[in-house]
Amino acid sequence: MRDVPITSDPADDVSLRARAAKLASVLQLPAGHHGAPHAAVSAAVSLVVTRDRLELRLAGDPRGVAPQFERIDVTSGPGRSLQTPLLKAAGIRKGNPYRPRVVDATAGLGEDAWLLAAAGCEVIAIERHPAVVAVLMDAVTRAATHNAGVAARITVVHADARVALAAFARGEGPVAAWGKPDVVHLDPMFPDHAGRKTAERKPMRVLRLTAGNDDDADVLLPAALATAGRRVVVKRPAHAPPLGAAAGPACTVSYAGKAMRYDAYVV
Ligand SMILES: C[S@@+](CC[C@H](N)C(=O)[O-])C[C@H]1O[C@@H](n2cnc3c(N)ncnc32)[C@H](O)[C@@H]1O
Repeated sequence: MRDVPITSDPADDVSLRARAAKLASVLQLPAGHHGAPHAAVSAAVSLVVTRDRLELRLAGDPRGVAPQFERIDVTSGPGRSLQTPLLKAAGIRKGNPYRPRVVDATAGLGEDAWLLAAAGCEVIAIERHPAVVAVLMDAVTRAATHNAGVAARITVVHADARVALAAFARGEGPVAAWGKPDVVHLDPMFPDHAGRKTAERKPMRVLRLTAGNDDDADVLLPAALATAGRRVVVKRPAHAPPLGAAAGPACTVSYAGKAMRYDAYVV
């Protein structure tokens, strides 16, 4: 996990500068240089406050990354077929109104959380990197203007999932009203380039440079298994070994997606 400086753009907008300074103090991240060019910022990634949104920018690249939930297709045939393996792994069946309450313990930029919420699930989305949390919260707030119902089903929590899941297993925290969450979803970073034939998409590259490689991910599986009421769902690259392969239990069933699969552990 890296320190990500907070900047604003355009640099001459004093209200953006003030927002950036406030955010830096709330998130306990360093203040960076304001405005473009971002090559002036020595860090690989900056959190940038713009007039429209919060975004993560690579040094020297003025085009930032932020979730754009309104662009996620969940209505056309191809859009739904991308969503289907995740929903099946979470125990959602066509024609059955059951919708699990989900803890997405590695929320990142929130695409999976959005897909689950769009299907009708209540989702608690946990993320540990403060800059990623800020970008995700901002995106969910923006999304409420075009899809209030889905956005309202997502609660973003800034925490380390190892700590949060242990608290949830004791019935504490935002899941208290649920009893146990039905499903815990895990999607830690996969080691760079391993098991992947194509280049990493820019959002994932930026996320990796921000959050790191999640080398401690194996411990999340036992924590998730101890917390979930019904299932743990783990997203993996298509040909990757299961999470915690050496020590972990075998998954109950896998659902293949385009370049990834979802391993479901029924508890
Ligand atoms: C591959 S990304 C998740 C992508 C996400 N599923 C999506 O659809 O955008 C992994 C994220 O999990 C977060 N993460 C990894 N381990 C974590 C932990 N123990 N607690 C909270 N967040 C964690 C990382 O900071 C990173 O943002």
